[in-house]
Amino acid sequence: MVVKKVEEEKIENADVEISEEKVDELIKEMKASEKSKKGSKKKKEENKPQLIDLPGVGPGAVAKLEAAGIYDLMGLAVLTPAQLSDMSGMSESVARKAIQASRQMMDLGFSDGLAHEEKRKELFHITTGSKNLDNLLGGRGIQTKSITEAFGAFGSGKTQLALSLAVGVQLPVEQGGANGKAVYIDTEGTFRPERVRQFAEGIGANPDKVLKNILVARAFNSDHQMLLLDRVAELIKDGEPIRLMIIDSLTAHFRAEYSGRGQLADRQQRLNRYLHNMMKLAEQNNIAIYVTNQVMSDPAQMFGDPTKAIGGNIVGHACTYRLYLRRGKKDSRICKLIDSPDLPDDATAFMIETAGLRDLDL
Ligand code: GTP
Ligand code: MG
Repeated sequence: MVVKKVEEEKIENADVEISEEKVDELIKEMKASEKSKKGSKKKKEENKPQLIDLPGVGPGAVAKLEAAGIYDLMGLAVLTPAQLSDMSGMSESVARKAIQASRQMMDLGFSDGLAHEEKRKELFHITTGSKNLDNLLGGRGIQTKSITEAFGAFGSGKTQLALSLAVGVQLPVEQGGANGKAVYIDTEGTFRPERVRQFAEGIGANPDKVLKNILVARAFNSDHQMLLLDRVAELIKDGEPIRLMIIDSLTAHFRAEYSGRGQLADRQQRLNRYLHNMMKLAEQNNIAIYVTNQVMSDPAQMFGDPTKAIGGNIVGHACTYRLYLRRGKKDSRICKLIDSPDLPDDATAFMIETAGLRDLDL
């Protein structure tokens, strides 16, 4: 009890110690380092064909494509001429030429199923701590090179699941982990070390060691949150064996900062860019990403559940697996898998207990 108090105070103090000016300074610093990095990256990528190198694609069209979340040749190569023409304002015949050119430049061909299977073997899986939930996700929990989103009302278990995953990722592969560390981007100050201790004790792990393998950063606003992605990439480059990145919550800052009706398009565009960068980070480094998302009530919905996730289709399409969490009977939690690319839509139930997530008999 005493320990808990001390730790809680520590968290609170950590927030107070960093002044607003300090945050501004930090963000400026990060932006500056991002700029200088961009400069050197440009040089490196000069030889690599870019969107602007395509016939009929000028700077205006590039800007429009980027706004729609298409940053590279691959993004373009998978479009149809009609889609591209819609997005960029170019005529369909020009769009067709640009797409053909991008496909040629990309050497977009076939790779056999076996090669694909080989590639998928590189994936790691991370147990959620609940067999029911793991099974809902195909048997072994969440996976690397994908984004798993959990959305639900407050108290539905999104953060508890995040903490359980942060512990699970550290397990050896045979025990359902990825033998790696977790990065925890905390936007709301709800990371609780004492809960991690309890989860660790629940599976007989050393709580100090488990806590040491979770790198926590508090994101103070959406700018800071987005810039932290680069920090994670740097950590990985420096050799940190990170296999899981948690963003709790993905949308809270965006929602608070872009609350006006006229700002919705701006917000969605930034979220889209952020998610795109996140997916790239996941794919390039073989890490799993788990994000939480709030819900709002949708007054237009007359029947069924009137809640829907923040961020709408932009978030929905960018996330590979979407989980909808809600409270069930007797304080259980119901988890529903929605729109998975390779698994049936299904639901399961579990309990949140002090020592971790516990399965409910179905
Ligand atoms: P928001 O962040 O507010 O949107 O909610 P969330 O979905 O992140 O909720 P979270 O995962 O934090 O779940 C909170 C709930 O978990 C509490 O209401 C409790 O029911 C349960 N819980 C949290 N800690 C404990 C614990 O130590 N023991 C038990 N038995 N339950 C706990
Ligand atoms: Mg939470």
